[in-house]
Amino acid sequence: MLPAVIVVLMLISFTRGENPAIQVILTRKGLQYGKHLGAGWVQEKLEHITLPDFSGEVLAIHYILTGITITKCDFPEPIVEFNPNNTGFTTSISGLSVALTGGWMTHFGLIHDGGSFKMAIFGLDVTSVVELGKDPDGHLSVTSVSCDAQIGDVDIRFEGGASWIFQPFVEHFKGRIRGEIRSKICPNVEESIVSLEYHLQAMEVSIQVDEDLVLNIPLTGVPVIHASRMILGLKGEFYDMKTRKRPPFEAQNFTVPEQPDYMLSMGLSEFTVNSASYALYSGGRLQVLINDSMIPPYIHVRLNTSSMGPYVPQLPKMFPGLLMNLQVYASEVPMFSFQPGVVKLELAGAVKASAIEPNGTQIPLFKLNVDLKFDGKVWVAAGRLKGSMALQNLTLTLAGSEVGHFETDTLESLLKMGVMAGLAKLNVELGKGVVLPRMRNAQLVNTVLGVEEGFIAMCSDAEVFTDSFN
Ligand SMILES: *[C@@H]1O[C@H](CO)[C@@H](O)[C@H](O)[C@H]1NC(C)=O
Ligand SMILES: *[C@@H]1O[C@H](CO)[C@@H](O)[C@H](O)[C@H]1NC(C)=O
Ligand SMILES: *[C@@H]1O[C@H](CO)[C@@H](O)[C@H](O)[C@H]1NC(C)=O
Ligand SMILES: *[C@@H]1O[C@H](CO)[C@@H](O)[C@H](O)[C@H]1NC(C)=O
Ligand SMILES: *[C@@H]1O[C@H](CO)[C@@H](O)[C@H](O)[C@H]1NC(C)=O
Ligand SMILES: *[C@@H]1O[C@H](CO)[C@@H](O)[C@H](O)[C@H]1NC(C)=O
Repeated sequence: MLPAVIVVLMLISFTRGENPAIQVILTRKGLQYGKHLGAGWVQEKLEHITLPDFSGEVLAIHYILTGITITKCDFPEPIVEFNPNNTGFTTSISGLSVALTGGWMTHFGLIHDGGSFKMAIFGLDVTSVVELGKDPDGHLSVTSVSCDAQIGDVDIRFEGGASWIFQPFVEHFKGRIRGEIRSKICPNVEESIVSLEYHLQAMEVSIQVDEDLVLNIPLTGVPVIHASRMILGLKGEFYDMKTRKRPPFEAQNFTVPEQPDYMLSMGLSEFTVNSASYALYSGGRLQVLINDSMIPPYIHVRLNTSSMGPYVPQLPKMFPGLLMNLQVYASEVPMFSFQPGVVKLELAGAVKASAIEPNGTQIPLFKLNVDLKFDGKVWVAAGRLKGSMALQNLTLTLAGSEVGHFETDTLESLLKMGVMAGLAKLNVELGKGVVLPRMRNAQLVNTVLGVEEGFIAMCSDAEVFTDSFN
């Protein structure tokens, strides 16, 4: 069941002394859901497993119990709790009973005998305490702190062979069998914790977004465990694989408000978004060369010197009949800031305009600085992440000119119209939204999202497709 609990923790598909930019919080409700899934999974598994052969010696008779299968299992709902004392979980099952069948074989010197048996184990109690931590690479780690197993009683019935001879002795050696079974439970629990640890070590602590862009998500510290929730702090920093430059700003501390009615909460700092912005900017990806053929045919303003007459009156006279191109680029890192209810975006860009001679030679004309401010909203509706953006301010200034001074007011109005038209199209897409990230074995449901000072908080329930565990 513990594996299932951890799977739930890891759904959201991990360096030292840093503030985490992404926080993933599992509430008690989430833990209980994970436990419930885990219990169902264990129950189902138990009904289909064949236990390893079991051998021992009683009264100088060597016996082997083989082909042991579970015929019935009464699996009470386990108890799983956060354990702040051990930075982990305590899992306990109390009153489990199991009915088993199998074959028996005995060797007593040269005498071999065999038959079948039925066994019932009653009042099985198991308590396991695990500790969560972080390995040097930022993976989540899990280790067993303690395990305790008790067995109430064992009843065993042998059939066939000379079972009638030794059946009466069962009462005398069933204590031994009980002890042997008991001694095998905790090593098995510990083995499954080791295998879980192995899976955790194999998890990627970075996500390749595209050829150059990577999101780093190692744990920034050991998990924080309270009685009511567990908080995983992840680095949440994007970087460009080619430049490998770290952003010149740091993640700020933030606290995601407690939401016990949801299984999970998540906080995403504006740092993460801005690190993406920085990676794209420093990787030279926030630039575009615009030429006339990229301007849709229905727009009557063409990118040529004649068409620019109303905006830059001297152009058609100085360079008649030449096509133009515009080199548009971000002159600073576009920065997002999260404030209660709004996402603000500030863009500082520049446009370098050139005329193109028929032989391809480019003639620099002028350079404009463009400052844009946007206000955005984000929300979740019908399982989709949606948004909208509005232009707050646009200012255009002439930064340099090879063609002499000109007023930028008309050009600014033209650009504003262009940006508004672009936003209208963008808002149609943002309004349709994108489906919330859906993992191979889980999806988020009842998701609520809100923008807070410095971070976006999301609370959600999760639905896990248990068939994918098999
Ligand atoms: C944690 O330790 C305190 C004091 O030792 C104890 O009272 C409490 O029951 C412990 N909690 C758990 C979950 O073990
Ligand atoms: C962040 O806040 C937490 C709790 O508010 C505090 O314990 C921690 O020291 C802070 N970290 C930094 C780097 O300010
Ligand atoms: C405009 O740019 C596109 C893409 O870079 C290119 O395919 C096209 O040939 C260019 N058009 C002109 C007229 O230079
Ligand atoms: C420049 O644009 C105008 C439309 O504004 C068009 O009529 C003219 O043919 C274009 N000239 C060139 C050289 O493309
Ligand atoms: C391209 O043409 C212009 C004038 O038409 C001329 O001044 C320039 O030297 C030419 N450049 C090349 C590389 O041929
Ligand atoms: C837009 O920006 C300019 C220059 O930064 C400023 O003077 C103006 O007040 C701003 N307008 C709005 C509506 O914010």
